[in-house]
Amino acid sequence: MSEAVFPVPADVAARALVDDAKYQEMYNRSVTDPAGFWGEHGKRIDWIKPFTKVKNTSYDYHNVAIKWFEDGTLNVSANCVDRHVATRGDQAAIIWEGDDPSEHKVITYRELHVEVCKFANVLKEQGVKKGDRVTIYLPMIPEAAYAMLACARIGAVHSIVFAGFSPDSLAQRIEDCGSKIVLTADEGLRGGRKVPLKANVDRACEKAPVDSVVVVKRTGGDVKMVDGRDVWYHEATAKVPATCEPEEMNAEDPLFILYTSGSTGKPKGVLHTSGGYLVYASMTHQYVFDYQDGDIYWCTADVGWVTGHSYIVYGPLANGATTLMFEGVPTYPSASRCWDVVDKHKVNIFYTAPTAIRALMGAGTDFVTRTDRSSLRLLGSVGEPINPEAWTWYYNVVGEKRCPIVDTWWQTETGGILITPLPGATALKPGSATRPFFGVQPAIVDAEGNILDGATEGNLVITDSWPGQMRTVYGDHERFVQTYFATYKGYYFTGDGCRRDADGYYWITGRVDDVINVSGHRMGTAEVESALVSHPKVSEAAVVGYPHDLKGQGIYAYVTLMEGEEPTDALKKELVQHVRAEIGPIASPDLIQFAPGLPKTRSGKIMRRILRKIAEDSFDSLGDTSTLADPGVVDDLIDNRQNRA
Ligand code: WTA
Repeated sequence: MSEAVFPVPADVAARALVDDAKYQEMYNRSVTDPAGFWGEHGKRIDWIKPFTKVKNTSYDYHNVAIKWFEDGTLNVSANCVDRHVATRGDQAAIIWEGDDPSEHKVITYRELHVEVCKFANVLKEQGVKKGDRVTIYLPMIPEAAYAMLACARIGAVHSIVFAGFSPDSLAQRIEDCGSKIVLTADEGLRGGRKVPLKANVDRACEKAPVDSVVVVKRTGGDVKMVDGRDVWYHEATAKVPATCEPEEMNAEDPLFILYTSGSTGKPKGVLHTSGGYLVYASMTHQYVFDYQDGDIYWCTADVGWVTGHSYIVYGPLANGATTLMFEGVPTYPSASRCWDVVDKHKVNIFYTAPTAIRALMGAGTDFVTRTDRSSLRLLGSVGEPINPEAWTWYYNVVGEKRCPIVDTWWQTETGGILITPLPGATALKPGSATRPFFGVQPAIVDAEGNILDGATEGNLVITDSWPGQMRTVYGDHERFVQTYFATYKGYYFTGDGCRRDADGYYWITGRVDDVINVSGHRMGTAEVESALVSHPKVSEAAVVGYPHDLKGQGIYAYVTLMEGEEPTDALKKELVQHVRAEIGPIASPDLIQFAPGLPKTRSGKIMRRILRKIAEDSFDSLGDTSTLADPGVVDDLIDNRQNRA
């Protein structure tokens, strides 16, 4: 762990919204008088009918219920679009940068208003009504943002499925939320390669039929249109009016569902609602990035993940910001791409993931130093712990020691950033997400759930609610309660391990459950296992994470074959292909070890602790193996381990 401390630079402090004294004052008020604090800051967005109640939340295991601003009404799309048209109609709302560097587009708030209204009218024409679920399977094109805001406008609930997921994963998500419509594109374009999105939708719909599919023409690739079901977006929008009244929604009406992986079972539909989410997303966006009028802000995430929801679309647009949306990848056409885009659009704030930073660091410093980057003022990191080497490179080389780094810790479930530096207030320590945002009360507990004081290490919980918190698992409130409120009664359990140092700074150490974080993407080991055992030659599989230089964690699969099957390299390739087809390329196992047996307790439970150690190549500290049903399997696992130093 690094002991270096980077104080707030004087020029950053001079323009910042909040200095350290102000942070302390606001934070103390936010936790001693949450209703007063959020009652005031809840007014940062426009309400149709103002709320009179602020906070009504219970973490009681027998009655988990979370409501914020519950008697207020609003429309999220009106907040992100309409309210800016009069004051900043000609300002860029979205700067879209295509996969190919020759393509870009600027969409002003006035234009955004027209596009969102038209898309909303297309949805209505397709029969979508308030409360209906709409599945979005779009690449990083402006239509993805229009689609989200169009749903919000008419009170439909969007469920975005990352465009890298397979037809099977898409079908599962369409089915789970019962959506009757899918919005997609002919093909996606990433790093010069085409992704067959419409063809994937067609295959998904064989399993999960829908009434309509709206198709955006992106590449002009050849796709099959199904009569009576499929419509072209450009044809449909040409026929509809350019205005659409926003629907009046209750603060607690659902805004979106986003599926995320957990330790067990199939992905859960994390449900976020309207008022609290928008207040929290916009407030964190403004304070964490010290966003001020005129700033050009770029978050490199995909709208298929929560970071894209909160920090490409909802947070920035609610703040009337200029948000950059990038279709491509950081290494195409070269490893200078991010910095070329920064120079081209004079980006001031750049927010990305450690996995991208490590990949660019690996490509070499020249790709950075040959660019200008003088517009940059602030850097951000999200998705996984950032190792001090990557932090230092990001700080020294990319930011030329001028730009603070906000290392932001949060989750799909939290809706917005919970632990983070504020640029004008917080001295930085490489690798630490530092201190809680306003209203957030983190605590560290031991295995029994006792709160630990002072400098300590344990499991990270949050002791009280904040407005951006998820409200339930779609269609399964019991699963919500069991997943987050059953382990440590009375607290929200994050699933992360954490250390707190003597200065009260938080250091996230990674997941403590069976979730692995591959290139900043959450993957449930159970999901990969179930994909593997669905292959006819596989009898059993156990999946664990192991440290990976670029990805943070890699996927290590132990596979037991059916009687008589040959453990060949060709079969390994086949299994990787199989997992890609079942889930998507992000779930590809990095290493597969054929194992005649897995280490199990006498009651048949797989001892993952042992499998993790072997995958980490640190098998001399396996601990007690005497409780294993057959201790002999361990020697074979060690002899045939795939991750040798
Ligand atoms: C991890 C992404 C360390 C963590 C916004 C969390 C982080 C999971 C950080 C959520 C960070 C995210 N430092 N770890 N700054 N940010 N994580 O739901 O394990 O895709 O629980 O949300 O990513 O991943 P999710």
